[in-house]
Amino acid sequence: MKVILDMAISLNGMIAREDGSEDFLPYEGWVEFVEQAKRHNNIVIGRETYEKVTSLYKDHNFNDVPVEHKVIITRSTEFHSPEGYVVVHSPVEAVDYLKQKGIDIVYLVGGGVLNAEFVKQNLVTDIHLTVSPFILGKGRPFLALDDFESPLTLQESRSLSNGRLRLLYTVNEPGQ
Ligand SMILES: NC(=O)c1ccc[n+]([C@@H]2O[C@H](COP(=O)([O-])OP(=O)(O)OC[C@H]3O[C@@H](n4cnc5c(N)ncnc54)[C@H](OP(=O)(O)O)[C@@H]3O)[C@@H](O)[C@H]2O)c1
Repeated sequence: MKVILDMAISLNGMIAREDGSEDFLPYEGWVEFVEQAKRHNNIVIGRETYEKVTSLYKDHNFNDVPVEHKVIITRSTEFHSPEGYVVVHSPVEAVDYLKQKGIDIVYLVGGGVLNAEFVKQNLVTDIHLTVSPFILGKGRPFLALDDFESPLTLQESRSLSNGRLRLLYTVNEPGQ
């Protein structure tokens, strides 16, 4: 089972401002994300990402992404599954759910708190980043700070529009 973590980041690794807005990242990033999501036919997101993105971006958010499996992860037992989504309570549960549905590439798309949990549990096999030419001193990092490390191998790098860079890494010793 592959788990691809795919994020659009500032040069210093931020995915959003402190208030959750992503205005420093160009809109093409969203279009490219939707294409990738369609390819994998699933998305896995943290509860905070679901709530921020659907409340801040009414005209383009996860509700409009045409994939069969949309998984929200929360520890809360009070959070009710919005229409079109499935709610699970841990990274392993998300992977197992998608495996059972015949998915062989889990598409993990944030945010940073959830990403760090997946990395800590050694579930991530690939990390794909789109780096925008922007520095954001204060914000939400693509991996929340915690005590873990993970050696990577760069597989590919290429330039994208608007001075962005696409970087594809594999994790050297994924746990699966
Ligand atoms: N630039 C990008 O590519 C990109 C992509 C995605 C998101 N974002 C931005 O990222 C921001 C949100 O990221 P974030 O890091 O603050 O939050 P997040 O990772 O989206 O969500 C954190 C929440 O996920 C749940 N969670 C995390 N680990 C868990 C575990 N082990 N088991 C069960 N549930 C777990 C918890 O929900 P509960 O508190 O409900 O238990 C936790 O509070 C938003 O502003 C969004 O716009 C940007």
